[in-house]
Amino acid sequence: MGESLQGQVAVVTGASGGLGAHFARLLAREGAAVALAARRLDKVEGLARELSDQGQRAMALRLDVADAATIGPALDDVEAALGPISILVNNAGVGGEGLALDVPLETFDETFAVNVRGTFIGAREAARRMLASGVAERGDGRILNIASIASETVLPGLSLYCGSKAAVAMMTRGMAREWARRGIAVNALAPGYIDTGINTHWWPTEGGQKQLKGFPRRRLMQESDLDAAFLMLVGPAASAITGSLIVVDDGQSLPGGG
Ligand SMILES: NC(=O)c1ccc[n+]([C@@H]2O[C@H](COP(=O)([O-])OP(=O)(O)OC[C@H]3O[C@@H](n4cnc5c(N)ncnc54)[C@H](OP(=O)(O)O)[C@@H]3O)[C@@H](O)[C@H]2O)c1
Repeated sequence: MGESLQGQVAVVTGASGGLGAHFARLLAREGAAVALAARRLDKVEGLARELSDQGQRAMALRLDVADAATIGPALDDVEAALGPISILVNNAGVGGEGLALDVPLETFDETFAVNVRGTFIGAREAARRMLASGVAERGDGRILNIASIASETVLPGLSLYCGSKAAVAMMTRGMAREWARRGIAVNALAPGYIDTGINTHWWPTEGGQKQLKGFPRRRLMQESDLDAAFLMLVGPAASAITGSLIVVDDGQSLPGGG
């Protein structure tokens, strides 16, 4: 176990599986106390037990980030149980799949409610608490928004998802600018494709296989490929990094075939 995040209190949204569960394990491994938030309470409770059994401080909470009014009170519960929040990982996200001609508007609303509105409200509720608790004054505030290569690249059949992740990238820069002198670093991590619940149905299809063969390295990424950039952005190394979008994509968004 590392010690780079000893004494920090982190919240991860969408920690019930995929990248969020991975990030939560990583934060705990580096010594942070971790609050795991998602709609599927049984999943986050299971992971919180796993971390507690390893001697790490962890708690689980049910949170739907589309339900704006519940985000602030959830963060209050975290602070009451674990102490002042210093790291928020805005990871909860949905795929918003569908061709623009056909996709139902309900999908538009859900995609933007979770990926954009949920991220915005999570960030400002966390920042308010960092400013009130003294965490920001110490320069320890870290907000990491999980964007995507979709923030900057057109992905097939994903115009809503791309639009939502582009919004996440620009909101990140706006919030970083507003809080630049207030001790809170706001950054975005933009991963390439990793096989998780959000896309696992796609890879065995003909379209999925074709897309994969078009990647420069002809492969998907592994969750652990994100670890170095993730830890840089949530830890002390980010004291002079704010408003950055760090792309970690195994070259997937590089143009051209071959
Ligand atoms: N996998 C990739 O290739 C990839 C690449 C770039 C970026 N990303 C981004 O990485 C993040 C994590 O995705 P993933 O790949 O790990 O997919 P995933 O396995 O489908 O996980 C998505 C997580 O978001 C949570 N979530 C969805 N709606 C929510 C809501 N309304 N409130 C709270 N939590 C919600 C889900 O938990 P519950 O269902 O329990 O609520 C789940 O834990 C997303 O923002 C995604 O856009 C993924």
